[in-house]
Amino acid sequence: MKALRVIFAASTALCAATAAHATDLEVTHWWTSGGEAAAVAEFAKAFDATGNKWVDGAIAGSGGTARPIMISRITGGDPMGATQFNHGRQAEELVEAGLMRDLSDIASEGNWAEIVRPSSLLDSCTLDGKIYCVPVNIHSQQWLWLNNSVFENAGLAVPTNWDEYVAAAPKLEEAGIVPLAMGQQPWQTTLAFQVLLVALAGPEAYTAVFGGKDAELAGGPEMAKVFAAADKARDMAKNSNVQNWNDATNMVITGKAAGQIMGDWAQGEFAVAEQVAGKDYTCLPGLGVNEVIMTGGDAFYFPKVDDADVTAAQGELAKVMISPETQVAFNLKKGSLPVRGDVDLNAANDCMRKGLDILAGGNIIQAPDQLLSADSLTQVNDLFVEFFNNPGMSAEDAQKQFASIISSAD
Ligand code: GAL
Repeated sequence: MKALRVIFAASTALCAATAAHATDLEVTHWWTSGGEAAAVAEFAKAFDATGNKWVDGAIAGSGGTARPIMISRITGGDPMGATQFNHGRQAEELVEAGLMRDLSDIASEGNWAEIVRPSSLLDSCTLDGKIYCVPVNIHSQQWLWLNNSVFENAGLAVPTNWDEYVAAAPKLEEAGIVPLAMGQQPWQTTLAFQVLLVALAGPEAYTAVFGGKDAELAGGPEMAKVFAAADKARDMAKNSNVQNWNDATNMVITGKAAGQIMGDWAQGEFAVAEQVAGKDYTCLPGLGVNEVIMTGGDAFYFPKVDDADVTAAQGELAKVMISPETQVAFNLKKGSLPVRGDVDLNAANDCMRKGLDILAGGNIIQAPDQLLSADSLTQVNDLFVEFFNNPGMSAEDAQKQFASIISSAD
């Protein structure tokens, strides 16, 4: 009987100990598509396995919808436990205001400086020598996604670059296919434009304009070619009447559209639709013209809170998100690349392998979010949503306005 009492006492103590560390942590993000939800479930599962509890705070819509909500909660004294932002300068003002937790102790304990590659990901989390976010993936925006059977059924070869894709547009339209699917949210039209810029004017020109704020180059002949291509893209997308990026991806998956310029998170949607890279769809990094990987993507930030248990749980989550096993489980579902080089993505599909090879080759550029302030990028976004929605705006007019924005951008 005594032995039974001892076992009972021990198990009660263990439960109490575990319960003491079972902290609910509200995590806000904007991952609500099929592929995104499958990926975020991997984070939740890994965090719950630590004995804490992931309280999901998904905010539907795009990052442009979610970020103002996240920022107002943090500045309004109603912070969540952790929140998504993109790599770069989106949370810069929150960090400068002293509202975000310093993760430097966890980063040095976990050797983030050695394991995170490229190091620019960690630089984007660092302010005044302190680290304020945990990078969780690399999402390159520089991709064109093509539905193979749409081209084959129209008697066309699957394009291997932008020019072949543009040349195929008239025949696709004759077959009742939307050549280019594009959602009409600001970030999507800017994404399409800067992908065209990198591919057609080159990575150096992109970095000079978005990073160096070179307004002369922005208004010059090199860039005029990019605006002419954007004018073509606008025409190819004229019948793409969807809002959300994943609805545009779905147009490609179901064969209503032939292609989409979109970040590699589109892979998560192809995966959920059980479509196979290389067989059902083709991916062209850098539009098949300039193969680069843009180190966009996502990082998690942790608002400062007084509660010691929540602060401890925040640290647990940061460690879990960058652990090798969670990096593989999450990124395979998300369609993105891991932030550390010491993991083996042997389950990676053809497109992820293309991305990993380019990354290994060092052909890397930073995302607009890492180069432009949130305010300047919003001005660029607003210009391109107007350009793509208003056929009356000429490429020349758009370029003049773009050069003016860049001349005063920070
Ligand atoms: C991006 C984010 C990606 C992707 C996309 C669409 O900002 O980095 O994770 O999900 O939004 O929601």
